Amino acid sequence: MTTEPLTDLAALGERFTRDPYPVYAALREEGPVHRVRIPEGTDAWLVVGYELGRDLLADQRLSKRWSRASPALGIGKVSAGTSMLSSDAPDHTRLRKLVAREFTARRMERLAPRVQEMTDGLLDAMLAAPDRTADLVEALSFPLPMAVICELLGVPFLDREKFRTWSGQAVSSVDPAVRASSAEAMTGYITGLLADKRAEPDEDLLSALIHTADEDGDRLSGDELIGMVWLLLVAGHETTVNLITNGVHSLLAHPDQLAALRADFSLIDNAVEEILRFEGPVETPTYRFTTEPVEVGGVVIPGGGELVLVAMSDANRDPARFPDASRFDITRDARGHIAFGHGIHYCLGAPLARIEARTAIRSLLERCPDLRPAADPATLTWRTGMLMRGPLSLPVAW
Ligand code: HEM
Repeated sequence: MTTEPLTDLAALGERFTRDPYPVYAALREEGPVHRVRIPEGTDAWLVVGYELGRDLLADQRLSKRWSRASPALGIGKVSAGTSMLSSDAPDHTRLRKLVAREFTARRMERLAPRVQEMTDGLLDAMLAAPDRTADLVEALSFPLPMAVICELLGVPFLDREKFRTWSGQAVSSVDPAVRASSAEAMTGYITGLLADKRAEPDEDLLSALIHTADEDGDRLSGDELIGMVWLLLVAGHETTVNLITNGVHSLLAHPDQLAALRADFSLIDNAVEEILRFEGPVETPTYRFTTEPVEVGGVVIPGGGELVLVAMSDANRDPARFPDASRFDITRDARGHIAFGHGIHYCLGAPLARIEARTAIRSLLERCPDLRPAADPATLTWRTGMLMRGPLSLPVAW
C-alpha cells in the first residue's frame, strides 16, 4: 500500500503519446519518483531525470523476471519463451554469453558492406516511385533492419507481414489481451521456424543456437531457445525502425541541422548519437520489479514486485546532464545518453543498430538532395504505449 498521489498518464491519451517530453519534464520539476498509471493500464513507479534513472537501470535489486511481478499489477508476460531480457544474473549471464560474441562491434563492422547493399536495393525500389513520394517506414525503416536480422539469424522465408503484426502488437498495444495473444501466436510461429531450421541446418546463428540446445540441453532449454529467437527478431527490428524514422523526422524538422549534415557527412556518427539522445526509439525500458524496498531520491519504493519504469527519454533530455537538452544539435557531445540502456542489460545490438542507422540515413540523404516531408508533422500517428517511440508512418517526397 502506498500514499503517494497517482498521476494518470493513461488519461492524457493522444497528447502524451504524441509528445511525452513536457509531461516528464513537469514531473521532474517536482521530484525524481512518481506513482503513475501507464497507458498500458497498470500502476507503476516512474523515475525521471538522468542520474537516478541511470543508476536504477543497473540496480540488480530490481528483477526482470515476470514471476517477480506482484499479482496485484494484473499484468502477464508479453514475450515468447525465456530470454536474457527477462532474466536476472546468473541465468542472464549464461544466456547473454551464448550470443554476445556474434554481436561485437568488430563483427558488426564486417556486416557494413552488406547493410549498404541492402540499403541501396531498398532505395532503388523506393526512388522508382513515379510520383516521387513514399512512406519511409514501409520503404526503408522497416525492411532494412528486418532483412539484416533475418540474414544474420538465417531466416530466409520469414512471413514478415505476419511477424510484423504480432511483434508490433506485443510491444506497442495498450490492450493486455492483444499483447498476450500476439505473444502466443509468436511462440507458435517461432516453434515452426525452429522446426524448419532443424530439418535444414545451415552455417547461420539460428542453426548454431539449435545445435547448442539439442547437444547441450543444460545450457539452452527449449523455452530459452524460443526466447532467444523471439528477442533477437523483435529487438532486432522494432527498435531500429524507429531510430531510422525518428532520425529522418528530427532532421526534416530541423532544417539547419539537416543542412549541417549535408554539408559534412563525417558528422553522421555524431548525428546518430544525437538522434538516440533526442528522440530515442525506447521511451521506457522493459519492466523491472522490486524484490525488496528500494530507496530512490528519498522515496521508498516498496518490495514485493512493484513495477518500476525509468523514463529514458526524459533522462536523455535532463538539462542537469545535457546542456540545452531540448535542443536537437547534431554537433553536440551526446555521449552518455542511455538510449541503449545501462548495466547488464545494455543493448546487445547497439553496434548493429548504429551501422544500420548511419547507412540508411546517409544514403537516403545522398540520393535525395531535396528530401522533404510529404505530410504535416502534426498529422503523424505515433506508436501507443510507453515502451517504443516513433511514428507509424513518415510520408516523404523528393
Ligand atoms: C536503435 C536500436 C535499438 C535500441 C534503441 C535498443 C535499445 C535497447 C535497450 C534500451 C535495451 C535494454 C532494455 C532494458 O534494460 O530493459 C536493449 C536490450 C537488448 N537489445 Fe537492443 N536496441 C536496439 C537495437 C537492437 C538490435 C538491432 C538488436 C539485435 C540483435 C538488439 C538486441 C538487444 C538484446 C538482445 C537486448 C537484451 C540484452 C540483455 O538483456 O542483456 N537491440 N536494447
